[in-house]
Amino acid sequence: MTFRVTVSRPVPDAALALLREAGLEVLGPGPSEGMAEADWTDRLARSEGLLCWLSDRVDAARLAQAPCLRVVANYAVGVDNIDREAAGVRGIWVTNTPDVLTEATADLTLGLILACARRLVEADRFVREGRFAGWRSDLLLGTELAGKTLGLLGAGRIGSAVARRAAAFGMKILYNANSPKSDLERTCGAQRVAFPPLLSRSDVLSIHCPLSSETRGLIARAELHRMKRTSILVNTARGAVVREADLVEALRDGTIAAAGLDVFESEPALSPGLCALPNAVLAPHIGSATVETRDRMAVLAARNVIAVSRGEEPANAVVRGAVSPPPR
Ligand code: DGY
Repeated sequence: MTFRVTVSRPVPDAALALLREAGLEVLGPGPSEGMAEADWTDRLARSEGLLCWLSDRVDAARLAQAPCLRVVANYAVGVDNIDREAAGVRGIWVTNTPDVLTEATADLTLGLILACARRLVEADRFVREGRFAGWRSDLLLGTELAGKTLGLLGAGRIGSAVARRAAAFGMKILYNANSPKSDLERTCGAQRVAFPPLLSRSDVLSIHCPLSSETRGLIARAELHRMKRTSILVNTARGAVVREADLVEALRDGTIAAAGLDVFESEPALSPGLCALPNAVLAPHIGSATVETRDRMAVLAARNVIAVSRGEEPANAVVRGAVSPPPR
């Protein structure tokens, strides 16, 4: 029996080749801007597999259009775009792409921390605008990282990789996580703290928790007011962990010093006022955007689909599905 997989949007060729070599029929890929509703309906009705982007909303209604679906392979580590409960009820596997994007995302996080601390984007603009008139003792003064405290909100793979980098810059590490991380404590001297002291003691607060009902809007006005006025907020996780309108206000009135954001609350839309702030460094969700990492993510997603097509358990299941196919 043919196993059809809808590929919702473009992915690296290596993944498509792998799917075809395994004998799967590939429907798509759809366009980068997103498939029309009619194409979703048509393709999902015929598909056993779905390989999708993090910007595809795979909710209960969409899953209901897919009577033969057995696996949703997200081309991302975060799976907040997928209704996992509805998938589980239908016996559909949900998989993600952990590990392979850890180092790339940690690199970008450090880049944002440095860009904020040393005002790199402002500096670039200053030079390009022809305003550089020679060295000055007070020109674009920033803050140095050595001796400062990095606070990690969430200390999984990416948070830990950021901690390793920050420790090499001489930063002290605090973290807030559901369970102690003995590795992090041993290798980076990290200390686990409750949420309020994480906010008040960090010079740089970096967000690395998944988006869930508990973390949505976790950093809002009150939390920003608990942070140091000199502090930097960095988010390479999910935008909706932060109430962006509150952040804009905090950056504008000096409640905190700067923010480095790779993700946005309602991306690709930005909150009013964000773009005009000189103390915000903005990137278009490129944490995992290296050639190597994107290839590895796509191949992993394809392998997860192939495993399910063979009646095997996929390596990166976040929701367990049924091992055998549902009756047709
Ligand atoms: C993910 O995989 O969840 C990242 O946000 C993609 O860069």
